[in-house]
Amino acid sequence: MSTTSTARFTDRTVLVTGGGSGLGRAIALAFAAEGAKVAVAGRTAHSLDETVGLIEAAGGRGLAVVADTTRPAEVEALVRRTVEAFGGLDVAVNNAGILRGVGPVAEVAHADWQELLETNVTGVWLAMKHEIAHMKAHGGGAIVNIASNLGAHRRIPNVVAYATSKAAVSALTRGAALDHIGDGVRINAVSPGASATSMSLRPGESEAQRADRMKAETPLGRVAQVAEVAAAVLYLASDAAGAVVGTDLVIDSGSAA
Ligand SMILES: NC(=O)c1ccc[n+]([C@@H]2O[C@H](COP(=O)([O-])OP(=O)(O)OC[C@H]3O[C@@H](n4cnc5c(N)ncnc54)[C@H](OP(=O)(O)O)[C@@H]3O)[C@@H](O)[C@H]2O)c1
Repeated sequence: MSTTSTARFTDRTVLVTGGGSGLGRAIALAFAAEGAKVAVAGRTAHSLDETVGLIEAAGGRGLAVVADTTRPAEVEALVRRTVEAFGGLDVAVNNAGILRGVGPVAEVAHADWQELLETNVTGVWLAMKHEIAHMKAHGGGAIVNIASNLGAHRRIPNVVAYATSKAAVSALTRGAALDHIGDGVRINAVSPGASATSMSLRPGESEAQRADRMKAETPLGRVAQVAEVAAAVLYLASDAAGAVVGTDLVIDSGSAA
């Protein structure tokens, strides 16, 4: 594990929700590689343990916390356990999210609509509520929320339920940034486009088929790699982004350009 002078997060504590897979795992590993102690949260213990195993195998420190970000008591306990284990909370990445309710708006099932809003919007708000409370009382911090280019930045048919939830994450980020920069908490968002995780695969689609589709659908001709999204998150969380407040950085192969 590199903890050289180029490591931006040495001795800092980072919490990543949805850290057991996909973008969240890549983000957690990237922070750990730059010296951070990283807590990962989600609903599936074995996925979180795998992420922690990868962090530890590279010489870092990780903590797995099973928590459902839609449940207030579990989110409160998640922040508390992270602080107890690592002595603070400097950075939080609210990445946990789901994709549901694909199809035209009149055909979206009520249950899918509710689950999307509960997970993607309420979950991010709840996490911020407890993260900010801690950071505000302990000298500040940085938060990065994971929205999507399909929220505030780009419109395509048949994903309006998901897009609505992610547009709300963008709005929530900018509003929270204004509300809490005076408390020393710097809040920004990253809005990825189709990225190299299972979420961007259509039902039954292989990675090779997705690659062909991306050649046609994106200006760049490919998905964003998870490390490319993680790099944006680390920048926004770093001291170099000290004057970046309430921005919403699109990493989407040019799709929303
Ligand atoms: N991949 C893309 O193309 C893409 C594009 C734009 C935006 N995004 C966003 O990026 C984020 C990460 O997505 P991904 O592609 O990495 O997909 P993923 O692998 O499915 O990751 C989502 C993570 O969120 C966790 N999660 C879901 N509901 C949760 C809940 N209620 N409580 C706690 N954890 C929960 C999941 O773990 P458990 O199920 O174990 O809880 C999972 O680890 C999401 O917010 C997604 O909307 C992805």
